[in-house]
Amino acid sequence: TLPKAVTIIEVGPRDGLQNEKQFVPTEAKITFINLLKQAGFTEMEVTSFVSPKWVPQMKDAKEVVSACSDSLRNIVLAPNQKGVELAKELHCQAVAVFVGVSNTFNKKNINKTTKESMQELVPIIQNLKEENTFVRACISTSFYCPYEGKMKEEDTIALCKQFVEAGVDELSVADTIGMANPKDVYSLFLKLNQLFPEVLLTAHFHDTRGMAIANIYAALQAGTSRFDSSAGGLGGCPFAKGATGNVATEDVVFMLHEMGIETNIDSSKLLEAVSFIAPYVSRKIDSKHFALKPVS
Ligand code: HMG
Ligand code: MG
Repeated sequence: TLPKAVTIIEVGPRDGLQNEKQFVPTEAKITFINLLKQAGFTEMEVTSFVSPKWVPQMKDAKEVVSACSDSLRNIVLAPNQKGVELAKELHCQAVAVFVGVSNTFNKKNINKTTKESMQELVPIIQNLKEENTFVRACISTSFYCPYEGKMKEEDTIALCKQFVEAGVDELSVADTIGMANPKDVYSLFLKLNQLFPEVLLTAHFHDTRGMAIANIYAALQAGTSRFDSSAGGLGGCPFAKGATGNVATEDVVFMLHEMGIETNIDSSKLLEAVSFIAPYVSRKIDSKHFALKPVS
């Protein structure tokens, strides 16, 4: 049976913008975040504490975080000790760590093997939990890696298990390069839902091959009720060859509402947020519902 309500975690301000070459002014990022909050999102990836040399677009993370002074779940990404320290200094309520199932991808993304990242992150997660911080673990290349090809389901499950044992609150299981298919998605999410009922399970799909909506439906059928998506379908990881945008939030919201599944998101306000950010990004907004209902 399908869920009656779904939580959408908006990742536009982080995943959506991180790959944009032209710097989006900090004020515009903050306005974008505020417009999204007005549309009803209560969980959002707002920025990431990463090396400004590696991802220059996120160099204003401190300013962005300082502007998010409400009690909503403002998530910041942090790949290492340094990022987590910055998050602590700014009293962030929610931290997302990220690791790839694929070693080659993890090396390219955070300059460590998967094992090295886990050795660093497990004690950090335990410490964050002692301090009552919400911890989300983003599992990249859960289905495919652009360098290693198809990942083994058991390897993805094993990495998720390590995070659950370390005490994370949430797993966000990602198809980084939009290669997953609904059959594999159903199989993995069914197993994860059965194995780890104690954590929040979220699906994160990129739409490189137009499969994301079908994959969301498969994950829904497997009992998943949390999805990451990006307003306007922006996004992509700079270190994953061939990765394009996340599934567009407005398209996900449309499907869910048509199916009678609640999201608490106001679609027209969401489209206003997309209209606002559109002139700041290089990519043409090609989500179906932005094209259908442009906000005048
Ligand atoms: P490195 O060069 O090995 O790091 O990079 P280092 O420890 O040698 O430090 C190099 C410099 O970066 C130093 O500064 C550090 O202080 C600084 P310098 O002395 O040269 O001036 N530094 C930092 N600054 C700010 N915040 C930090 C930080 N750490 C070090 N946390 C590092 C290693 C992890 C830093 C680098 O590889 C990096 O920043 N990677 C980030 C990659 C990234 O942001 N990828 C995109 C996000 S993941 C994603 O999109 C996937 C996801 O959406 C799910 C999916 O779809 O799969 C989540
Ligand atoms: Mg992503």
